[in-house]
Amino acid sequence: MRIIVGISGGIAAYKIPFLIRLLKKNGADVKCIMTPSAKDFISPLVLSTLSNNPVGIDFWNKETGVWNNHVQYGEWADLLVIAPATANTISKMATGACDNLLLATYLSMRQKTLLVPAMDLDMYQHPTVKRNFEQLSSDGLHILPAESGELASGLFGEGRMAEPEMILKKIQEILDVKPLLLGKTILITAGPTHEAIDPVRFIGNNSSGKMGFALAKRALNLGAKVKLICGPTTCVLEHDSLEIIPVITADEMLFNVQAHWSTSDIGIFSAAVADYKPAKMEVEKIKKSDAPLQLTLVKNPDIVQWASNNKSAKQLTVGFALETNNESENALTKLLNKKMDIVILNSLNEKGAGFEKDTNKITIFDSKGATKIFNLKQKSEVAIDIFDHIIEYSK
Ligand code: CTP
Repeated sequence: MRIIVGISGGIAAYKIPFLIRLLKKNGADVKCIMTPSAKDFISPLVLSTLSNNPVGIDFWNKETGVWNNHVQYGEWADLLVIAPATANTISKMATGACDNLLLATYLSMRQKTLLVPAMDLDMYQHPTVKRNFEQLSSDGLHILPAESGELASGLFGEGRMAEPEMILKKIQEILDVKPLLLGKTILITAGPTHEAIDPVRFIGNNSSGKMGFALAKRALNLGAKVKLICGPTTCVLEHDSLEIIPVITADEMLFNVQAHWSTSDIGIFSAAVADYKPAKMEVEKIKKSDAPLQLTLVKNPDIVQWASNNKSAKQLTVGFALETNNESENALTKLLNKKMDIVILNSLNEKGAGFEKDTNKITIFDSKGATKIFNLKQKSEVAIDIFDHIIEYSK
């Protein structure tokens, strides 16, 4: 979850540090934007320290001269939650006013917005405020109603901002986030491996790492800790619960899998590991000559096989089978031979599936005898299907 917490100027802003900590604990990345008057209620330093990100307040940072790009904020986030949302901010949102960074970000957001109001009871009941709520609700905003209780004015009634736990629950509901893997550690191998021939050449393949990174993102969204051991790739992903371990060769990948396997619950082996490596790497660049060049290749270790041979009763191994012929038969042979719990077949014969593509078409086979065939989908959606199956299988 990538969440922007937008804070407007109300006393309930004192609850926002608790909300940020709760979001972070549940695996979210958080950025804060404050309206100028919110600074009177809570220090930006508290918010930047807890969120581990700079806080956006003005359109440009007067000290650094850096522009706070509201469009980039909107593109980054999965959800904008405005808490506390004051009557003033709600009114501006309902009319499209745009006189601060938070409102500009709201207007630029294509993702969903959650409004968490907080105000005095008579303000909350005022027909103007109610009209604004109706407007925003029909604009498609999610609204978490205020609760009843003691208010800052000393009065008692409806207007208290919902508690951070309720806000988190609502966010998870809106984003359809089920922290089903909370407390679990998922080890994922991704990308190609490069096996050096000499200082400037290597044996490799066209794997982009996209499937492995999509799997990592899904695991993080499900609340897991992820160790992503990946070969050379241009993919990027940042998250507090993610450890990326970059490697080059199959031997390095195996070494890191061995170091992290005993503390992992599930291993997903999506890397396209080079099956062979040169018997020896030449120290100097190989010069060309007229004679044919012969390379002697030796077999690389099989990483998923090692993990399967060394798994406890509680651990699962999930592998891929990339096939061009006899697809199902070969995938099932790999499931058996590599003692995997689940194998995901992707066939290079399917249009839109395979290396470097953003889409994939898979069939899942598992050791309990289940087979599931899926349509061509975005790799992010394929990752959802894979984790749905893993969770179902582990029940
Ligand atoms: N794999 C691995 N280590 C290797 C080779 C493969 O961990 N040295 C893993 C892959 O990450 C994948 C599964 O094994 O999860 C199957 O990989 P694939 O390339 O389809 O099969 P191979 O075992 O390499 O067999 P072949 O190339 O002959 O099809």
